[in-house]
Amino acid sequence: MQHNLVFKVLDVLSDGKFHSGESIAKTFDISRASIWNAIKKAEQFGVEIYSVRGRGYKLIQPIMFLKKPAIEQVMGEVHHWFNLEIFDVMDSTNSYLLEKASSGHPHASVAVTQIQTKGRGRRGRSWQSALGESLTFSLLWRFNGGAATLSGLSLAVGVAIIRSLHRLGMLNAQLKWPNDVLIQDGTQYKKFAGVLIELQGDMEGQSTAVIGIGINLKLSKKSFNQIDQPATDIKSISKEDIDPNLLLGQILKDLADVLGQFNTYKFASLKEEWMSYHVYQHQIVTLSVGDGRSVTGLAQGVNDDGALLVEKPSHEIEIFSSGEITLRKA
Ligand code: BTN
Repeated sequence: MQHNLVFKVLDVLSDGKFHSGESIAKTFDISRASIWNAIKKAEQFGVEIYSVRGRGYKLIQPIMFLKKPAIEQVMGEVHHWFNLEIFDVMDSTNSYLLEKASSGHPHASVAVTQIQTKGRGRRGRSWQSALGESLTFSLLWRFNGGAATLSGLSLAVGVAIIRSLHRLGMLNAQLKWPNDVLIQDGTQYKKFAGVLIELQGDMEGQSTAVIGIGINLKLSKKSFNQIDQPATDIKSISKEDIDPNLLLGQILKDLADVLGQFNTYKFASLKEEWMSYHVYQHQIVTLSVGDGRSVTGLAQGVNDDGALLVEKPSHEIEIFSSGEITLRKA
């Protein structure tokens, strides 16, 4: 069974109305049995479909599909700078662009997928996505300088994401160093988006970054249960479905601005803005540093390289370029 047909059928059903097997079969000039097979395959992808004798098929939850014209419309003229590819099913958009990067894939290529089956997160975590549950995409960006000039890049990407979320009305979205996107949900801050950047290239010559972004839109109970940290999604925050085309188009526009600024003026020029979004700014945090050691102190912002500055009880400032940060209970 081709993914292609499954997504064509789902596209017909995406209006949320009943469609008979016969009418869908006619649309694509194939048998009703093929439509039935496509419906079964869609169910394997986690899509829930009503099937009522005499009426046909209907999606239990409407799905907003990613569509190139819709994304380009949001981006306006800026879309000409990007090379946008939309996939139905893919293991990982980061893996795809990393492989393509070595064979000369163009600068500003974007890979976005409706379903991601082997998505990767930071620290060995996974970032799978069933259909309609999260926006998962990657951007290939080539920089003139070597990898050494890219410090703070992941924080800069966080700035672009927050600008977009704020523009779209999610005014409480904040960042947790280095680049988790959190929002207050009840008494707790919960993560709903993350960034994984993978670099290719040497320390001195040109370098290529694959910037992977995952944003939870509307997670199923099953998906929530699979996440091992406090998590939320846009649906729980705003009570409304967000159009993934709008979200992606806006983020790409903001990324184009921020990455342009980063390339010329480096992270130092975005540092103040980043700190204004930091959820734990001037709060007591505990940082686990990987070797089993943990450090507690006051989060005093970041330096020009994007490293976290923690003021210890002795008033000595310790600088961290990586680590897992948790808020200490008062
Ligand atoms: C994190 O752990 O916070 C980072 C999550 C990054 C997930 C995104 S989804 C699109 C891209 N492709 C991947 O395999 N991972 C990133």
